[in-house]
Amino acid sequence: NTVLILNGPNLNLLGRREPSVYGRETLDDIAAACRVRGEKLRIRVDFRQTNHEGELVEWIQQSHADVRGIILNAAAYTHTSVAIPDALRAVALPCIEVHLSNVHARESFRHHSYISPVATGVIVGLGSQGYLLALDAMARLIADADA
Ligand code: DQA
Repeated sequence: NTVLILNGPNLNLLGRREPSVYGRETLDDIAAACRVRGEKLRIRVDFRQTNHEGELVEWIQQSHADVRGIILNAAAYTHTSVAIPDALRAVALPCIEVHLSNVHARESFRHHSYISPVATGVIVGLGSQGYLLALDAMARLIADADA
């Protein structure tokens, strides 16, 4: 069982980028924590980041048979992209949307997500812990689907 964890633009700068909003942890720190949690849950974690919308679309489209779910922080594309939710609809895998910051407490343009209507669930505002909670939830979704 593989879970894709996909990260969108500027998340490669985590740790240096607006630490008061996004924290001091780097994306590599978060990836490492996700891999540890994945081992406990017996899930293979495939953790990726890109600054390009089309690359996110391709990664979603190419999710091979072993991929059981997608955890997605589409970053700014959350608020602009139609292509990403279209790709998620096409592959019809469970998707958990994650945001580090509480987008609803920020600028109004961050209150709308094109991803949420196609997501199984949404986790916002809990920092890097949100990724681990999403993995726990995904493990349960996979177990339920297999039961
Ligand atoms: C973000 C929230 C987005 O509004 C923003 O564009 C990001 C990060 C978050 O994780 O809090 O880049 O997705």
